[in-house]
Amino acid sequence: MQAHNENAAPGLKDALLRLKEEALSTLKSVNKKEELTLLKAKFLGKKGELKQVLSSLGRLPEDERVLVGKVANEVKDALSALFDEKERALELKDQSEKLKVSIDTSIPGRMHAFGSVHPLTSAAEVIVGVLERLGFMRATGPEIEHDFYNFEALNIPKTHPARDMQDTFYVAEDVVLRTHTSPVQIRAMLAKKEPPIRVLSFGRVYRRDEDITHSPMFTQVEGLYVDEHVSLADLKGTLLAFVTQVFSSDAKIRMRPSFFPFTEPSMEVDVSCFALGDHQDCRLCKGTGWIEILGAGMVDPEVLRACGYDSERFRGFAFGMGVERIAMLRYGVTDIRLFFENDLRFLRQF
Ligand code: PHE
Repeated sequence: MQAHNENAAPGLKDALLRLKEEALSTLKSVNKKEELTLLKAKFLGKKGELKQVLSSLGRLPEDERVLVGKVANEVKDALSALFDEKERALELKDQSEKLKVSIDTSIPGRMHAFGSVHPLTSAAEVIVGVLERLGFMRATGPEIEHDFYNFEALNIPKTHPARDMQDTFYVAEDVVLRTHTSPVQIRAMLAKKEPPIRVLSFGRVYRRDEDITHSPMFTQVEGLYVDEHVSLADLKGTLLAFVTQVFSSDAKIRMRPSFFPFTEPSMEVDVSCFALGDHQDCRLCKGTGWIEILGAGMVDPEVLRACGYDSERFRGFAFGMGVERIAMLRYGVTDIRLFFENDLRFLRQF
């Protein structure tokens, strides 16, 4: 027994060191937490190898037991530290792997849809832009308008048959949804006591009317120029400049006699057809070579007087057009309602 015990001390010491070496080399190849837990149990657990070595410690004589015990404790501390370190390393690896998944740079980018300018807005921008460069200043007015500005001051008295020209939405007896943007011109003239005046108005107007070329709400642009020597030639030159900018550089205009209560003489203005090719079966001009685009005329002296201007001294011209009609012509749209339905299949084409 004694002899066995005497040999046992160096044997145990070796066993402890071998245990440490073994643990060290196996730890290196571990890269999963579960493996690490098993390994920790194998070496440091209650029934682990270290415990087994230590269980034979009791058989050693006192002095050797202290010595081997010291080595055993060192091995145990060293192994515990190593296992802890490995555990942290695996934890970190785990986290960075999770991160890698959540910012996978190989996933294709997600595209956001591009918005675009509504065709009516872009048509209005073109029209208003050209008029501004011709010297017209933008003026504004309310959409719910007093009868006086929408009709009376524009030489359309109550009970006069001229009122039938515009199917009106009445809000109250003397209050209407404006049927045109002409009341804006009246407001501009009343605000500026003395000509020259050169304004454009742009905005929504309302009429009780609906089919494929009429909508109960549509958009108008009008121009007004009042000064001492304004003539029909000025109107013609302005409109010619306008159509060459909006439609085609070689566009021509044609004036046909017409009637508006607020202008005298009054005319419908046509632009030469800008569709390419033969006009025989032309969708735009229907074989005539001309397309109606706006109404115009010399401001009736009655209107000038209603605004407090000296109608002997001052004269003016005015013109007005529907933005939807211009947009339909420019973009080849055949149903006005498409502009207001906001169907993306339609809007994406612009
Ligand atoms: N305000 C007229 C309309 O809406 C258009 C127009 C304006 C005609 C100016 C002539 C002169 O019908």
